[in-house]
Amino acid sequence: MSALTGKAALAGVIGWPVSHSKSPALHGHWLDRYDIDGAYLPLPVAPKDLGDCLIALPKLGFKGINVTIPHKEAVMPLCATLTDRAKRIGAVNTITFDEDGKAHGDNTDGLGFMNNLHQSAPSWMAKAGPAIVLGAGGAARAVVVGLLDAGAPSVHILNRTVERAESLAKHIGGPVKAGSMDDLTDLLPDANLLANTTSLGMTGQPPLDVDLDSKPSHGLVTDIVYAPLKTDLLHNAEAHGLETVDGLGMLLHQAAPGFEAWFGQKPAVDDELRDAVLAA
Ligand code: ATR
Repeated sequence: MSALTGKAALAGVIGWPVSHSKSPALHGHWLDRYDIDGAYLPLPVAPKDLGDCLIALPKLGFKGINVTIPHKEAVMPLCATLTDRAKRIGAVNTITFDEDGKAHGDNTDGLGFMNNLHQSAPSWMAKAGPAIVLGAGGAARAVVVGLLDAGAPSVHILNRTVERAESLAKHIGGPVKAGSMDDLTDLLPDANLLANTTSLGMTGQPPLDVDLDSKPSHGLVTDIVYAPLKTDLLHNAEAHGLETVDGLGMLLHQAAPGFEAWFGQKPAVDDELRDAVLAA
């Protein structure tokens, strides 16, 4: 990183803890690549300090921040404005401060999910058929909203705890249905997309064991888990002849709108970035 000047643009990620976040490596790569006079910092912020932090950061010259666990919902009432998609997802992951220090909250996770699919599988289209989303947590919320905004005709949320899927379907509204994991076999033949948003399959977690024998003749399978990069679900899908997209691109694409807003440069999401983040 070259030396910062007094005019350096500042941004960062707030979380508690924040040391696991890949965002500093990701934005740091872009700052180096575009030779930008700026810095992106990991900012550990305890929940009790969240309000003070949102007041102090713009006063210190911060252009904006990413927000990670456990603050994604708690920052919402502290924002002066929220985008429609942030309200529907019920969480904020990207904040931009205006000249007056007011916080404007957005959620780019659903967009990041969709842009990853569009880049990795250009011929796939959300509007071509129903999507199946496994899981009903925070990640599922963003994925379902991203799919609806991209024109998916219907989305089935399947979850171990069916009540959670039902409440998510109700919150989001539109052509969203809830079910249990057991519904997968019946829904799969017509699916245009199968997306895992649960933590199953992540290194250290139990595997996601699903039967894909009733697979559609075509269709895409994706996993938001990216450690390992190729999960058992993706191996399983490939063995069934289905096209797959790994989850790392969602992380990369969700970061792009914030970087552009804070540092004034539209960043490239490409193999060079993937390699830099994987190496971090
Ligand atoms: P996030 O906000 O990252 O999505 P979360 O809110 O903890 O995380 O949600 C995790 C998802 O993984 C949930 O859908 C959860 O199912 P439940 O709602 O039934 O808890 C799912 N999940 C986690 N462990 C699971 C397991 N062993 N079997 C099936 N689903 C599991």
